[in-house]
Amino acid sequence: MDAEQLAHMRRSYIRDGLLESESPQEPLALFDLWLEQAIETERPPTEANAMLLSTVDGSGQPHARVMLLKGLDARGFVFFSNYESAKGLDMAANPLAALTFFWPVLERQIRIEGRVEQISSAESDAYYAMRPLGSRLGAWSSPQSRPIESRDELDQRLQAIRQRFAGETSPPRPAYWGGYRLLPSRMEFWQGRPDRLHDRLEYRLQTDGSWSRSRLAP
Ligand SMILES: Cc1cc2nc3c(=O)[nH]c(=O)nc-3n(C[C@H](O)[C@H](O)[C@H](O)COP(=O)(O)O)c2cc1C
Repeated sequence: MDAEQLAHMRRSYIRDGLLESESPQEPLALFDLWLEQAIETERPPTEANAMLLSTVDGSGQPHARVMLLKGLDARGFVFFSNYESAKGLDMAANPLAALTFFWPVLERQIRIEGRVEQISSAESDAYYAMRPLGSRLGAWSSPQSRPIESRDELDQRLQAIRQRFAGETSPPRPAYWGGYRLLPSRMEFWQGRPDRLHDRLEYRLQTDGSWSRSRLAP
């Protein structure tokens, strides 16, 4: 797939909100509700570039969250976020991370492990500039992963940012927002097969830059 096409994959989220007043106090109940809704509603086409990003914080606690893959080249897998978010702090303390893709219709999983580094400012600027204006202003408005008082606070922050950049068609990229590249050292391809006897092929990067390949038991 060409890199340009991958970078342009995006969707607007307009279906629902998540308000304190309408949410159960108990997270398992909310999980149950959302799972049920997902079972009723999820159909192809899905966001095939959605992936789980797993990081580990300074205390050794792993954290995982869904992200969108926005670029891919021989060096590795590119995604974008807030450098001061929880994941950003994790990766600053420990650059080892993992990505997991799951494509249920194809019965496939890909696991990728390696070292993460920030991409160049020029690369981040180029991607930031092609995002819709709302997303660019959203990056300015959200102190990602930090507690905020209410939904209103977020809306007020966006209003203030809209005023600050009124009339600007290309607001600058916030210094705290940009891309990461995961440089893979291990990749595993999983294909579901009958009787739970799935195929798993593991590739490991060798010191000379080549990849070894082994079959793993399912
Ligand atoms: C489908 C989907 C795509 C997402 N894509 C991104 C993304 O590309 N970048 C990002 O920072 N957060 C993305 N998020 C939000 C993250 O999952 C997460 O909530 C956010 O980055 C904060 O994570 P942190 O507190 O661990 O840093 C996405 C969430 C979903 C459900």
